[in-house]
Amino acid sequence: MKIGVPREIMEHEYRVGMMPGGVRALTKLGAQVFVERGAGEGSGYADRAYEEAGAMLVASTEAVYRMCDLVVKVKEPLPKEYPWIQKGQAIFTFLHLAADRGLTEALLAAEVVGIAYETVTLPDGVRPLLRPMSDIAGRLAVQVGACYLQRTNGGSGVLLSGIPGVERGRVTILGGGTVGTSAAKMAVGMGARVTVLEQDSNRLRIVDDLFGGRITTLIASSETIHAAMVQADLAIGAVLVSGARTPHLVTSQTVAQMRKGSVIVDVSIDQGGCVETARKTTQADPVYTSHGVIHYGVANLPGTVPRTSTQALTSMTLPYLIKLVQRGVEAALRDDPELASGLNVFRGRVVHSGVAEAHGMRVESWQ
Ligand SMILES: NC(=O)c1ccc[n+]([C@@H]2O[C@H](COP(=O)([O-])OP(=O)(O)OC[C@H]3O[C@@H](n4cnc5c(N)ncnc54)[C@H](O)[C@@H]3O)[C@@H](O)[C@H]2O)c1
Repeated sequence: MKIGVPREIMEHEYRVGMMPGGVRALTKLGAQVFVERGAGEGSGYADRAYEEAGAMLVASTEAVYRMCDLVVKVKEPLPKEYPWIQKGQAIFTFLHLAADRGLTEALLAAEVVGIAYETVTLPDGVRPLLRPMSDIAGRLAVQVGACYLQRTNGGSGVLLSGIPGVERGRVTILGGGTVGTSAAKMAVGMGARVTVLEQDSNRLRIVDDLFGGRITTLIASSETIHAAMVQADLAIGAVLVSGARTPHLVTSQTVAQMRKGSVIVDVSIDQGGCVETARKTTQADPVYTSHGVIHYGVANLPGTVPRTSTQALTSMTLPYLIKLVQRGVEAALRDDPELASGLNVFRGRVVHSGVAEAHGMRVESWQ
């Protein structure tokens, strides 16, 4: 099997779909791995390391697409890449097709086997390729929030940990799932006073047990959210309603009552955001101020720490790649229902109900 690893072309995306260790594991199994020159640079992996692991270096993204049976990436292909996609090719990456009709149509036209990281699901409902990115985003949300609280960055000048004799900063986290729990770990580790608001009482109980009384947990309601937001130095949006746009849980009136220079990091912005005043920003221009409150809305937070993110993501994708190489794409999909749950499009058919529903298309069986 010929496997291609192109350089990511999305702005400020420094992750890469495979580490040199992955190349070594797959070439040992007989695969040929083609890596675009410079693909690993942003994550700290030099071309030489890929070569030493057995990869062949390729000069352009287009050439990688043209010569490979399976393309392994991080982000979804962008319109510039559509013409390079080969008929019948398999693509293993984050696809987010429900939010992207153009890409869905391009993959259908090219009769691609599109396996999306974000829909690979274990029997207990865990999405193992998405979870590490949420873990990273939650921790980072506190780290960047603490940074923007610094007066020199426009913030209110609160040190989240406090010091002996001075009150600690307050962190309010909306949603107690993967991002929320990860953010709480970081905030507790920094010594902040943390409140997590969650609508699911079972989930809240788990979060409460996890921290053994070191945080406050509250059932989310418009009243509890308002009260916790207006006290917050740093607020983190970590809500997800699966398959839907995130509801606005925080109104602009509530934001207006927060202390000037407080910070909101709305991690759920990729699904629309849970704060009325939040909007998407980019890594190049990550913050803006609304009602005197700093808003951070970068939708690909894990891209800020590409080395950690690449290691976290590729260590989870490699076992699936090994199966794809050992069995071949179709047999691997037939043998492994987890991998098959990642299938979104298959040789001209939409085979994922969420994608079909989002675009008013017919869902078909892939087999
Ligand atoms: N910006 C980024 O770079 C980035 C990275 C990773 C994840 N995300 C996004 O972060 C969000 C959270 O992801 P996750 O992995 O933690 O999801 P998750 O499903 O693990 O957790 C979401 C939590 O929100 C809770 N919730 C739903 N409605 C609520 C409400 N009305 N009030 C309070 N809580 C509510 C759910 O019960 C759940 O516990 C998603 O939108 C995800 O796409 C963004």
